[in-house]
Amino acid sequence: MTQLRLFNPHDLGTNVLTEVSLTSERQRLEEKFAPLLREEFHLARLVSYGGNKEVPILRLYRYKEAFAFHFVEEFIQRFGLTGRDCLFDPFCGMGTTLFAGMQKGIPTVGIDKLPIAVFVAQTFLLFFSLKEGELRSTFAELKNRVRHADLAPIASDVAIMKVAFPPENLIALRQWKKVIDALEPPLRDVFLLLFFSILEPCSYTSKDGQFLRLNRKKRVGEPEELLERKVSEAERDLQLLKQLWPHEKAVAPKVCLGDARDLGDISFPQRPTAIITSPPYANRYDYTRTYSLELCFHFVSNFEELKSLRFNILRSHIESKVDNSEEPPHPAVKEVVDILRSQRKELNNPRIPDMLTGYFVDMWRVVQEWARILAPGARVAMVVDNVRFAGELLPVDLVLSEMAEKTGFHVWEILVARYKGNSSQQMRKYGRVPVRESVVVWQKEQ
Ligand SMILES: C[S@@+](CC[C@H](N)C(=O)[O-])C[C@H]1O[C@@H](n2cnc3c(N)ncnc32)[C@H](O)[C@@H]1O
Repeated sequence: MTQLRLFNPHDLGTNVLTEVSLTSERQRLEEKFAPLLREEFHLARLVSYGGNKEVPILRLYRYKEAFAFHFVEEFIQRFGLTGRDCLFDPFCGMGTTLFAGMQKGIPTVGIDKLPIAVFVAQTFLLFFSLKEGELRSTFAELKNRVRHADLAPIASDVAIMKVAFPPENLIALRQWKKVIDALEPPLRDVFLLLFFSILEPCSYTSKDGQFLRLNRKKRVGEPEELLERKVSEAERDLQLLKQLWPHEKAVAPKVCLGDARDLGDISFPQRPTAIITSPPYANRYDYTRTYSLELCFHFVSNFEELKSLRFNILRSHIESKVDNSEEPPHPAVKEVVDILRSQRKELNNPRIPDMLTGYFVDMWRVVQEWARILAPGARVAMVVDNVRFAGELLPVDLVLSEMAEKTGFHVWEILVARYKGNSSQQMRKYGRVPVRESVVVWQKEQ
């Protein structure tokens, strides 16, 4: 692990320290950054996956935490990036930043800690090598073989796998997986991606909210029919892809498994000159649950492996573990954590203070890594969501911006994409206080 400096709130400077004693840390932050906050509500549509529904190929797999292709296009333009730059996404998810960078001829590098995310990001790139009609003809061959196929192995000791599917769907899906596994790449990976995209509609589960929700009353689709439909959609998108983005212009991105908290092993063609990214939000969502069907079908072989993945991603979810020696690394986080700890009863989950501590310790490491690896003058655009627990608002955008300043970034602006309401439970109890979803824009010192 790279050596990391701890964030010392007392290093903030005399002016700030005077203010700290007069007012709350969060008020101090709001006042300090007020001149840099700007509402740009047109970004609201772009900071969520919804915007990708019109983008060929990217729309084939719903990675619901993704931002839109046009968001990346917009910041590539604002930063004036060209083929001489290197664009990095340390939380690349399904690879939206890489896909957009590639279309503009910009060298890109992406990492993610979740194997399904890295797989999807890598596989989108393979579509460029397919011939028209190839997916349809392969599907017809697989259809002949599937009925006699054995069952592919799955992580069957994971609880959700026992209840997620009607029994006949689970058998059919395991048979489809078996015949797909036997294909040669790139067709194998492309078919696996289409297969992953039908798991949710073939199941009683929905990726809505913090977890994968189980709804026994949900109308469930039939695997073969859904896969056939996906193949048709993919064929249509292949045609569009080649019309929209002629292959010659593209520069193949580099995508690999990696941890944004330690970039020591990641190699770059040159020092990155820009980051366009969005980390997990401190909102309790657990990616290893949301994507557990995909993970259990292909990426983990048992519950132990799934758990290990859960405890190794950024600590944005409620099962995150915190060491006794770990403290909130910023005074505003400490303020909120202390209040929440003193009102444990108010919290619907007593582990929230630990999650917030772990989240900011992790993000502090992330920001220090960026300061270390980025080229002088490099720009950062990062989408973040503020959070509110038991009525206590935590301005994640401002805390991270102050951390960035400490490591040698200049904070240019904090663009408010939208104000989100609270959960109805919170609103009833604490009134309506809008919570910002923002894009923080920083530049590393020259
Ligand atoms: C908000 S999503 C990013 C989505 C991405 N912008 C896209 O368009 O698909 C955050 C990503 O961070 C990943 N992640 C979680 N912990 C990580 C870590 N320690 N290092 C790198 N990536 C991590 C998650 O798997 C998830 O894909």
